[in-house]
Amino acid sequence: MNRKNIFSLVMTISILALAACAPATAATSPSNDAVNTVVPTTLSNTDSNATSPTSTSSTDSNVTATTEVNITAESMDPNLACSGGKTSSSVTPELTEGPYYKTGSPEQADLYQDGMTGTKLIVTGYVYDTNCQPVANAWLDFWQADANGNYDNSGYTLRGHQFTDENGHFQLTTVVPGLYPGRTEHIHFKVQAPNGEIITSQLFFPGVSQNDSDGIYNANLLLSIQEASDGLQGQYNFVVPVS
Ligand SMILES: [Fe+2]
Repeated sequence: MNRKNIFSLVMTISILALAACAPATAATSPSNDAVNTVVPTTLSNTDSNATSPTSTSSTDSNVTATTEVNITAESMDPNLACSGGKTSSSVTPELTEGPYYKTGSPEQADLYQDGMTGTKLIVTGYVYDTNCQPVANAWLDFWQADANGNYDNSGYTLRGHQFTDENGHFQLTTVVPGLYPGRTEHIHFKVQAPNGEIITSQLFFPGVSQNDSDGIYNANLLLSIQEASDGLQGQYNFVVPVS
């Protein structure tokens, strides 16, 4: 009897001990959950960190992807310089630089900023020499007024330079510039073949009534414009002297 009682007592103690361990294990779980709870917070921090650069850049790349205009030399408006089988062309006409040029613009082909007022505009084209041979690594510097006709003279909004790729191709993303007193819509530019002469001039928009009353306007500098899903698409081919 005593041995049975001792055995029963030992068994009871063992069962109680096991039962006591169970909640302890269960108690560990929530603490693991708590750790897990922290993990998502950390992850979400990581996410938010990732959201800044990664998501922004992924947004940028999405924007770039969706707004990339893949125009080949063959699909350009045949009326443009060196398009439509032309094998030679005159140098792009030069016009006044105007008072608002700033040196030292950032290297950026996308001048458009989210929330910017105005109609988004993507201009694509090529830089050719007068034999209609594409000019790789040509320097292009663009500057323009915003949609309200104002230049950023303290910073570099709507100012940027870029270089043509190995096919002489460029793409500018910006907004349609606004009018300001005495001028029709225009985008200023400088273009230069490597080690070549700098051509300074301006691009214009077809169908703008102020073109006719603008003394600087030149029809040879008209963009070829088409409507795009999120704005306008323009084409222009620059021609620089053979260096
Ligand atoms: Fe101007």
